[in-house]
Amino acid sequence: MSYIEFQQVTKVFPKENSKTKNSNQQSPVVDNLNLTIEQGEFVSFLGPSGCGKTTSLRMLAGLEQNTGGRISIDGVVVSEPENNIFVPPEKRRVGMVFQSYAVWPHMNVFENIAYPLKIAGRPKLEISDRVQAIIDTVELAGLALRMPSQLSGGQQQRVALARGLVMQPRVLLLDEPLSNLDAKLREKMRFDIRAIQQKLKLTVVYVTHDQIEATTMSDRMVIMRDGKIIQVGTPEQIRNQPINDFVADFVRSSPR
Ligand SMILES: Nc1ncnc2c1ncn2[C@@H]1O[C@H](COP(=O)(O)OP(=O)(O)OP(=O)(O)O)[C@@H](O)[C@H]1O
Ligand SMILES: [Mg+2]
Repeated sequence: MSYIEFQQVTKVFPKENSKTKNSNQQSPVVDNLNLTIEQGEFVSFLGPSGCGKTTSLRMLAGLEQNTGGRISIDGVVVSEPENNIFVPPEKRRVGMVFQSYAVWPHMNVFENIAYPLKIAGRPKLEISDRVQAIIDTVELAGLALRMPSQLSGGQQQRVALARGLVMQPRVLLLDEPLSNLDAKLREKMRFDIRAIQQKLKLTVVYVTHDQIEATTMSDRMVIMRDGKIIQVGTPEQIRNQPINDFVADFVRSSPR
């Protein structure tokens, strides 16, 4: 059994305008997804806009419920609508850094990172110990009292990352976390994220448009189109043995 398993996972969003014909025949945005991820693995989802990457991540986090199929983490089924199983996000120990990452502008670095612990009602002393430790991990030492407006883009990104890590998730989901950064900073953050992942032995699922990012960071890449997985493989396999023209073109034409 693998650490994370997607088995025949499908997501159909209800149609907004039900007056149109075929109102309940909305096509799936994630269509029969089958994928296993091992503990400690770094897996990237790569594919064109709208192919279902974010939706897949949100289903793993429990922020979205799959319409069909089964998702399990560490041997426990976390979502299987057919059997009325749904483990809520706060019980999954899955951290997520969102596509449009947002650090709260009215909170300083410490408060931003402490927020999930505060919501969870952790004692003050534990909060300050854990926030301090994670601040060191993401190399923001000395910046705890700064406001986000006083930080660089990369530093803000690390605050968002720290906030995703502070609950000590067993799985970290990152949705295009570097897209707002300039090329040079993006390169540095790639190494930083990979280093943190290896240090904490985290299982990471990483969404990106950028094949260089996917290639340099991942153990395996998942190429998606129209809600379906087209190919799964190591960066070398994807580059050297693309299974069709779509994969070949996609990895060739992505920004570098
Ligand atoms: N809440 C929703 N209601 C209806 N449709 C949705 C909803 N969320 C996403 N979709 C649709 O599902 C499809 C997949 O969206 P998703 O956000 O997963 O794509 P993505 O691969 O992350 O794209 P991008 O690279 O642009 O972020 C899109 O067609 C999108 O319009
Ligand atoms: Mg997305």
